[in-house]
Amino acid sequence: MGALVTSIRHASAEPSLEVDLGAVAANTRRFVALARGEVMAVVKADGFGHGLGDVARTAVAAGATWIGVTSLAEAVAVRESGVDVPVLSWLNPVDVDVRTAVRYGIDLSVPSLRHLAVIEQAGPVRVHLQLDTGMARDGAAPQDWLALMSAARRAELAGKISVVGVMGHLPCADTPGANAGGRRALLRGVEMARQAGLRPSVRHLAATSAALTDPGSHLDVVRIGAGLVGIDPSGTTRLRSALRFTAPVVQVRRVEAGCGVGYGHSHVTERATTLALLPVGYADGLPRAASGHAEVFLGGRRRRVAGVISMDQVVVDVGDDVVVPGDEAVVFGPGDDGEPTVAEWARWAGTIPHEIVTGIGARVWRHVR
Ligand SMILES: Cc1ncc(COP(=O)(O)O)c(C=O)c1O
Repeated sequence: MGALVTSIRHASAEPSLEVDLGAVAANTRRFVALARGEVMAVVKADGFGHGLGDVARTAVAAGATWIGVTSLAEAVAVRESGVDVPVLSWLNPVDVDVRTAVRYGIDLSVPSLRHLAVIEQAGPVRVHLQLDTGMARDGAAPQDWLALMSAARRAELAGKISVVGVMGHLPCADTPGANAGGRRALLRGVEMARQAGLRPSVRHLAATSAALTDPGSHLDVVRIGAGLVGIDPSGTTRLRSALRFTAPVVQVRRVEAGCGVGYGHSHVTERATTLALLPVGYADGLPRAASGHAEVFLGGRRRRVAGVISMDQVVVDVGDDVVVPGDEAVVFGPGDDGEPTVAEWARWAGTIPHEIVTGIGARVWRHVR
């Protein structure tokens, strides 16, 4: 079902996103097999655009024993989807609704003394102490870690928190050999936690790239997001893509040479040709920055998108071939039949595949299989 609720009849061919949960399951099993410890399935941002509950349930059925998300709202949605493994929410404001976390059995990260002060008031809560291991982003700065450990120990002794884990994140995991600093920082952080009297049993640092290329960083749990949905940021293997994005041709016209196409006439036809119109644009997740490079699969082969990608539509040049309204174009898919892939769209737009899969618009109909 699409995210838009309407009472109109659903046309036989709408812009549609097909999600292949079999691919998610296969990718999950790969990570479960290669991980030295356990696998946390990261389903933030609506399961990387593939459906939060669907991806969470599929990953758990395929062997993941943790679920990870950023916000508490996402964590609650995971619980409500019927998942009963531990769920960690690692990015929250200082006034996070701790009572809701407790009610739903959600683990919270603790990146600062201010977070700890709020969390301990509503405890007992299971927490993961979060150290910045080189991102200068989320997590406690190294100079604040000692004070956080002492305060966490006091809170634990008072029965307000239970320190389950220590977590960090690697800044350059796609670069071979670049994890040593982050690994050292996390292990030093764990050691300091132990010296403070804490006994975290779950150390976690690696995401998809490090899980694939650097077993030394696996520790107790690897947090896998991109890899579950077929994205390999390390470029070292081939995972199964889970999305197929299609759109119907809604109009076809024959034009002469010298015809300006779309806004600004950035494309002018060199010869007489046939143009097919698809009702999808940047509001549906086709990045405007891919204009001039993008292709779709239509009528048995690749076709160039002509002119600038509009908010709701793109024009495709099909030359002298016959295409009729109702024909289906594949915007992207796994690539097995010659259609463009998510990775190609990312390259055309000068971005990463993650941005493409999380950017599909709300009016695209979703079908899960
Ligand atoms: C803290 C943290 N852990 C794990 C992940 C999952 O990373 P990946 O998608 O590379 O598996 C993310 C995603 O950005 C993250 O922010």
